[in-house]
Amino acid sequence: MSSIRTNGNMALFLGITRSGKSVPVKRISEKWTRVLVYDPKGEYHLELGFEQANTRRELLDMLKAATGPAKINYMGISKSDFLFFCDCAFNWNHQKEAMIICEELASVTNAGKADGAWNRLINQSMAFGPLVVGTVQRGQEVDKSLLNSANFVHVAQHGTDDDAYYIAKKLGVPMEEIPREPLKFFQWTANRGIVVRGHVDFKGAKGKLWDDGTPRFIRASNGKPMKFNRAGRFDGVAYC
Ligand SMILES: Nc1ncnc2c1ncn2[C@@H]1O[C@H](COP(=O)(O)OP(=O)(O)OP(=O)(O)O)[C@@H](O)[C@H]1O
Ligand SMILES: [Mg+2]
Repeated sequence: MSSIRTNGNMALFLGITRSGKSVPVKRISEKWTRVLVYDPKGEYHLELGFEQANTRRELLDMLKAATGPAKINYMGISKSDFLFFCDCAFNWNHQKEAMIICEELASVTNAGKADGAWNRLINQSMAFGPLVVGTVQRGQEVDKSLLNSANFVHVAQHGTDDDAYYIAKKLGVPMEEIPREPLKFFQWTANRGIVVRGHVDFKGAKGKLWDDGTPRFIRASNGKPMKFNRAGRFDGVAYC
């Protein structure tokens, strides 16, 4: 039987391509020793050196062996691959808490209520301490269950007025708040609205994982860099 663990966290990263969704998610993943990613692009393998599972069989074999620290990128291609991944992620986190990342969610979920193994992952894994993170390009494509359960939403650049208007209305923030330039962001919670605004720069020192400079997350209100914690939040920001 599993021992009692702390509650998990869930976050959604939203913005057009190249807006700066995966950069913060990758940075947060450095805080975890067990990370499982659904990433059709394989970036976590290519850039961060995660083990790559190309097939369901490879994924199962890697997870079976991974009773301790492990960072694994599953390069699924279909909705059924994604649901298989969710089933694996639920069980792997149940065994020992992990960060679960679902990249490009719009290609495998829809804007309605979550179903099947995806539903179970976001609604029933939280007692077992994971951090579940999803990335989506447009608010209209966001899974309703994820938007409703996310502890916070990280909003990056939006490309069109229509998209900016949609998400502004959904979150109840003025349209002018929606970032329209790459690498700008704000974070929002249901209780407090916008809790922090900032931008990403790459002026940090070069690191093992960041050849071009480690990304820094600069707070708009004071120009100072913020650090992520294991819950995927910035230290020093009041989220609730
Ligand atoms: N180490 C780095 N140094 C400089 N720029 C970088 C570095 N890493 C990423 N970038 C740039 O930051 C921007 C945001 O990248 P990111 O991967 O977060 O985009 P994204 O929102 O996840 O896009 P997509 O939806 O296409 O995955 C890109 O323009 C990328 O080239
Ligand atoms: Mg990305």
